[in-house]
Amino acid sequence: MITRRTILKTVLKGTTALTTVAIFIGLPSWSRASSRMTNRLRIPEQLKGTLKDGVRHYDLTMQKGSMPFLTGLTTPTLGINGDFLGPLLRLRDGENVALNVTNQIGESSSLHWHGMHVPAHADGGPHQLIENEKTWQAAFKVKQKAATFWYHAHLMHKTGPQVYRGLAGMMIVEDEESRRLDLPSTYGVDDIPLILQDRAFNRDGSFRYITHMHDIMAGMRGETILVNGTASPFMPVTTRKVRFRVLNGSNARFYQIGFSDRRRFHQIATDGSFLRQPLETDRVTIAPGERVEIVADFNVAKPVKLVHIPIVPQTGGMRGGMGRGMGRGMGMMESFDSQPLDLLEVRPEKSLKAASPLPAKLTDVPNFREQDAVKTRRFVLDMRMGPGMMRGGGSGERFTINGRAMDMNRIDETVKLGDTEIWEIKNDSPMAHPFHIHDIQFRILDRNGKQPGPEEQGLKDTVRVHGGETVRIITRFEDYADPKLPYMYHCHILEHEDAGMMGQFVVTA
Ligand code: C2O
Ligand code: CU
Ligand code: CU
Repeated sequence: MITRRTILKTVLKGTTALTTVAIFIGLPSWSRASSRMTNRLRIPEQLKGTLKDGVRHYDLTMQKGSMPFLTGLTTPTLGINGDFLGPLLRLRDGENVALNVTNQIGESSSLHWHGMHVPAHADGGPHQLIENEKTWQAAFKVKQKAATFWYHAHLMHKTGPQVYRGLAGMMIVEDEESRRLDLPSTYGVDDIPLILQDRAFNRDGSFRYITHMHDIMAGMRGETILVNGTASPFMPVTTRKVRFRVLNGSNARFYQIGFSDRRRFHQIATDGSFLRQPLETDRVTIAPGERVEIVADFNVAKPVKLVHIPIVPQTGGMRGGMGRGMGRGMGMMESFDSQPLDLLEVRPEKSLKAASPLPAKLTDVPNFREQDAVKTRRFVLDMRMGPGMMRGGGSGERFTINGRAMDMNRIDETVKLGDTEIWEIKNDSPMAHPFHIHDIQFRILDRNGKQPGPEEQGLKDTVRVHGGETVRIITRFEDYADPKLPYMYHCHILEHEDAGMMGQFVVTA
């Protein structure tokens, strides 16, 4: 139950967090402590599929498992072909694939290929329900630029808890270009997947999930960071250059990643493609659902940590209808990401394999011209607070897009196949929401009328929309039409999605 006291506590917690930011920003190092990390980073097994009659088959089984995340304790989990998370799926552009998904978790689920351009029937959203003990097959042709994608459960009202328990994994798509580019690409050696997730635990070691309203409002967050399902991870490194494919697979937490000694590195990719050229930087922000690829240089025998650099909250304007204190408290929800966190300790060996310099150019990022857009659709994201929230109870119509909560029986938008469209996403709430669209990859046109930074100029399928901000994206809906089966668009804070901040569109011929 939510009471005025809970809210007050929230506001106070926010204030403390803010003070912490101020203190930590003054420090020369971004690391929380000089503590060593104790567990070797798990590297998900790679699944390359088997070729049969020109179709590459992948067999996936969703199952129950358990993990020793915390010393001396066992956590009941869900996994795919294993105890927690799933294998890395390697796909090639142009190939026909068949992904066979068997559900053995004891309840219904679904499995969605996040970021992939696939027909609606193969999308794995809430309409492609897989009942317990049933197998579902997603068959499609890979039509994708090389990048890092992921898959995760996407059951209506249950995406949050099922992903939290472990139903997610990474996918890598290769294309001709990526195979030609001289980039670190030896999986598990100098091409490393990093699935970032935070978890809360009960005393008995089980995952703690949604224990009060705040876990829904801010999204479910935990104090323990898992990377590929490893708590307190370290990774030995044998090469001078290492590429990290970073996936924010957390339910709600945002990360701003960098290195503890503030070294510079290169960002080379966004969600759905390489950047045009490597971008030198010292940090990159990644919201739930987003991916980035970075390449960093390491020195012989000099350990360094990949860390979360505190994010200073960006709050939009305060809105009417909210009490002053409320507005402040909610705005500070972004500040729950304002404490420093150690993500991974990198331990370079005594001798490191040399690497070639990064290519000057990576790819031509597909462009959509504004003058080709036949339509602008408007989406307003909102989370209603005030009296309704004080009463607690069900989430009702609290999390909405254009004033409505998700309804699987309602098609919200109808798009014509082949059309270029602009989607304008306005965030009327005080906290940031990562907005994700199925089926397509898009470009960001502008944020509050301003061009996005170079770090966002690759293809995207998820975009952060800060409190009070309006973001315009542009895309083209190609190849697949289905008058009945919809694709989803939603906030990728999974508790918001589950509570209704989601809508459906069909693409018609
Ligand atoms: Cu990553 Cu609709 O989801
Ligand atoms: Cu998706
Ligand atoms: Cu949200």
